[in-house]
Amino acid sequence: MYNFIDLHCHALFGVDDGANDFDTSKRMLQIAYNDGIKTICFTPHFKIHKFEDDNDIEEYNDRLVQNLERLKEYTKEALPDMTLLLGNEIMFHSDISSSISSKKCRTINQGTYALIEFRPNTSKFDIQNSISRLTRKGYKPIIAHIERYTAFANSFSFLREIKELGASLQINAGSITKFKIGKTARLIKKALKHQLVDIISTDAHDDKVIIPCLSKAHKKVEKLYGKDYAKKLFHDNAFSIINND
Ligand SMILES: [Fe+2]
Repeated sequence: MYNFIDLHCHALFGVDDGANDFDTSKRMLQIAYNDGIKTICFTPHFKIHKFEDDNDIEEYNDRLVQNLERLKEYTKEALPDMTLLLGNEIMFHSDISSSISSKKCRTINQGTYALIEFRPNTSKFDIQNSISRLTRKGYKPIIAHIERYTAFANSFSFLREIKELGASLQINAGSITKFKIGKTARLIKKALKHQLVDIISTDAHDDKVIIPCLSKAHKKVEKLYGKDYAKKLFHDNAFSIINND
């Protein structure tokens, strides 16, 4: 059995609306570990409009690194075969690529893949435009939780179009187990059936409600869409991304 890789997770404490403190992070890491997740890329939110100025951004980035180091120290002893990496979940804004190149925000594990989120009702035009701009600059965008956006729920062909533009597509594990009927469920099923999805991640925010678990979703995906595709979704594709293949 392969170990899971979680590419989208808010278990790094004190930096966003995820883990509040060191102890919550520790509990989240233990939950993930027990669930079979052995590699986590922390993806704290980066919402440029929330910062007052460049100093504020610098201070945020210092905190990311310091808190990551504290957790790495902890796992070295407590969970020695756990790998911790860093990225960001970057909220859509006008020039994401210059925010990355000026080191205001981060790609996944310092590679060329960048996890991007949109607001639920972001227009097709804005989604398409931002994906095109990022790929033109040599970045490989990963769209976080595709199941959240009305643009995709209303138009499956648009999802295909965006994929053809070079975006990778991520779905939250919780959405796979939670949504059974309705528009979101239909989008998820269709996207998985046509193998358009690249990664399934936890998007975990705490140790009680949105917890870092993949095994339940993995079981369901394996049963409905086959072992080979499940392996790609829960390990292989994420492995390529963190190694920047
Ligand atoms: Fe997230």
